[in-house]
Amino acid sequence: MGLIPLIALSVGATLGTGIFVVLGEAAPLAGPAVVISFAIAALAALFSALSYAELASAVPVSGSAYSYTYATLGEIIAWVCGWCLLLEYGVSVAAVAVGWGSYLNEFLGSTIGWRIPEALSAAPSEGGIIDLPAAVVVLIATAVLLEGVRESARVTTITTLIKISVLIFFVVVAVTAFNSDNLQPFAPAGVAGIGAAASMVFFSFIGFDAASTAGEEAKNPQRDLPRAIIISLGIVTLVYVLVALTAVAAVGVDDVSSSGASLATVLEQVIGRGWPATILAAGAVIAIASVVLTVLYGQTRILVAMSRDGLMPKVLSKVGAKRVPTVNTLVVGGVVAVLSALVPLGELVNATNIGTLLSFALVNIGVLVLRRTKPDLPRTFRTLVPLVPVLGVAMCVWLLAHLPGVTWLAFALWSAVGLVVYFTYGRRRSALNKPAQTEPQPALDS
Ligand code: ALA
Repeated sequence: MGLIPLIALSVGATLGTGIFVVLGEAAPLAGPAVVISFAIAALAALFSALSYAELASAVPVSGSAYSYTYATLGEIIAWVCGWCLLLEYGVSVAAVAVGWGSYLNEFLGSTIGWRIPEALSAAPSEGGIIDLPAAVVVLIATAVLLEGVRESARVTTITTLIKISVLIFFVVVAVTAFNSDNLQPFAPAGVAGIGAAASMVFFSFIGFDAASTAGEEAKNPQRDLPRAIIISLGIVTLVYVLVALTAVAAVGVDDVSSSGASLATVLEQVIGRGWPATILAAGAVIAIASVVLTVLYGQTRILVAMSRDGLMPKVLSKVGAKRVPTVNTLVVGGVVAVLSALVPLGELVNATNIGTLLSFALVNIGVLVLRRTKPDLPRTFRTLVPLVPVLGVAMCVWLLAHLPGVTWLAFALWSAVGLVVYFTYGRRRSALNKPAQTEPQPALDS
């Protein structure tokens, strides 16, 4: 993979439910100032991206923050990080899938005039019984991965272009209804509201690190990974701020958050029902499905890395006939499908964010540690130390502090389970505690 496919991979994994759906959930928290929330979340992502870029240029292996932390901060911290990444990837796929379902329904409604009934398209706590479309898209993605089919770089590039095109289309239509009155009062809930929305929309930036999970497949990782990460972050930030600003200015905060398929609803309000909203919904359905596939794949890869290091059962890195980690993919797909069927979007998003923010904080700390412990290690990309990693940690902590208490409670339980698994399983079996591994590693589909 060269630079352009890497950028496409990152932008492809990033643009998804965050802007298409979570914008609608976050807007009421901050009011029109949700635009500022996007900028703040982008800054947190930027500082962490620079740290990612430095580590990606020094430790170019697949496995993302988990591998970087293993190399810099040691096994137990790497375990914590990997455990957080299960939230970043696994739970975020569930959230993305829930968002996909909203747009599928919008698409069905605007084309054939029929929608999947609420009982079958919403989680129990949101008035439904089961969110079937969300579970189905996850199971389809699982089946595709089991076949050894991975979205090719070319398909990723195409779906990424579709996403960007429909979002630009949205901005062009929404801007025609720009009304600055809708931006007043700008920040009705003050800094607390902006912070709460920022910690939620942070979700929309997750995935820019996808390029780093492809370290082993990049042609020139040292040069291209950092560039891909930074350029893709710049592209998505610009798109998000424009979409959020024009959406709120066109119809006001209340209407932006009135439905799950918020952007399609905005278009309907601006120019009425018809082909624009249908095109947007169709674009979202294609685009978000590709995020499900990419992120689900990323999750299986992280589990393979953890399993090869002995921290997770070996069966999770066992590769089947199609060079696919079969059991791993089945377990991940099954768990994610259940989550997406039963848990509402907001809770999935916040759980994803808490895991991601903590793992990003660790990546920032990893940079500082590696500069001390291995100052001479070749790094083709160097961030500004200590300023950038320190700001990165500070921003992550600030956003973490704005997450709701219930998310922290769920996270405490998750961490407790993680520590029990580590001390009863991973620590004893860790590859590092054994003589050097001599078995050849089977090739993975890549
Ligand atoms: N950033 C990804 C999305 O918004 C997870 O869908």
